[in-house]
Amino acid sequence: MQKIAETEDFASYLDQMVTLDPRLSGTACVLRAIEAAAIEMSDLISLGRLYGQLGASRGSTNTDGDVQKELDVLANDLFIDAFKGSPVAAVVSEELSEPLVLDPAGHLVVAMDPLDGSSNIDANISIGTIFSILPMIADANGPEAHFLQTGRMQLAAGFVVYGPQTSLVCAFESGPTQIFILDHRARRFIRAVSGPVVGTEYAEYAVNSSNYRYWDPPVQAFIDDCVQGTDGPLKRNYNMRWTGSLVADAYRILLRGGIFLYPGDQRTGYKDGRLRLLYEANPVAFVVERAGGRATNCVHPILDIVPSAIHARVPLVFGSSDTVELVTRYHSDPQFSAEHAPLFGKRGLMRI
Ligand code: F6P
Ligand code: MN
Repeated sequence: MQKIAETEDFASYLDQMVTLDPRLSGTACVLRAIEAAAIEMSDLISLGRLYGQLGASRGSTNTDGDVQKELDVLANDLFIDAFKGSPVAAVVSEELSEPLVLDPAGHLVVAMDPLDGSSNIDANISIGTIFSILPMIADANGPEAHFLQTGRMQLAAGFVVYGPQTSLVCAFESGPTQIFILDHRARRFIRAVSGPVVGTEYAEYAVNSSNYRYWDPPVQAFIDDCVQGTDGPLKRNYNMRWTGSLVADAYRILLRGGIFLYPGDQRTGYKDGRLRLLYEANPVAFVVERAGGRATNCVHPILDIVPSAIHARVPLVFGSSDTVELVTRYHSDPQFSAEHAPLFGKRGLMRI
């Protein structure tokens, strides 16, 4: 067996952060719990059907109407159990309709998607866990109120990807995003990339284009222009990737740039897209911004949005800052979007 590289592990990174700012000791404690639960998750996910029918439907749905899989519920229980020894006062989870009160003496709250991308479980495609750690609000009226803060208030956030490697992406309010990879032999996460930068060179977009006909015109115009490549106004050939797991698309974009879009659309219930602000958009936006990228709801920064409810959805666009900015221009400047759409000529003709 090969020697384990003597690079920094997640535990010593947390120790360093606490040395720099002792107020982060509670946050670090929660992150240690997340690390331990993620290792257990990685073990059981890698066994797949050998462990049990992880991808089987339970016949129940979550608050959003998604069918719950065995692994969704298992993951939810596993993370909540892990938080029990840490100062977590309450948890909001995609799998729970109401906030779950844990330690009344705690001073932190956690919002999480315990199992992101669950339609991919049986297909052996990357899935993940997304987490967001917030401080409690002093004068909050009931547990829900603690969660209705903007993403800027996150103390730390990130996600785990259970893929060919199990990776942990994490950022604190101060400091750049960090990427760790689980060394199964040592049962600990080792730092793989310190301060990834979301590059602007890679022209790759991620969107579920089967929803094209339901999108608003500015989104249609932007994607039309990407498809036109060097023949269109963007003068650049794009490639397309869509995994169906937010964590997998976010990880790829952190490492090599590109853009992700899940806009609102005209399907019933999809006015604000599909992804949830508290435990999907906010943590992803947090790590993307700390890696030099951007995240918006097509127009405004995700991290400035005040949540209206714990399970509120939000249109989500994130990735390379220049391309995310371009999407904002398609939305805020109708002239820009009309002139940039490759169908401009045709539309002009139709107007005659
Ligand atoms: O959690 C929601 C999610 O599974 C994301 O991981 C993913 O990006 C998205 O939904 C896929 O949605 P759709 O199936 O509509 O393409
Ligand atoms: Mn999800």
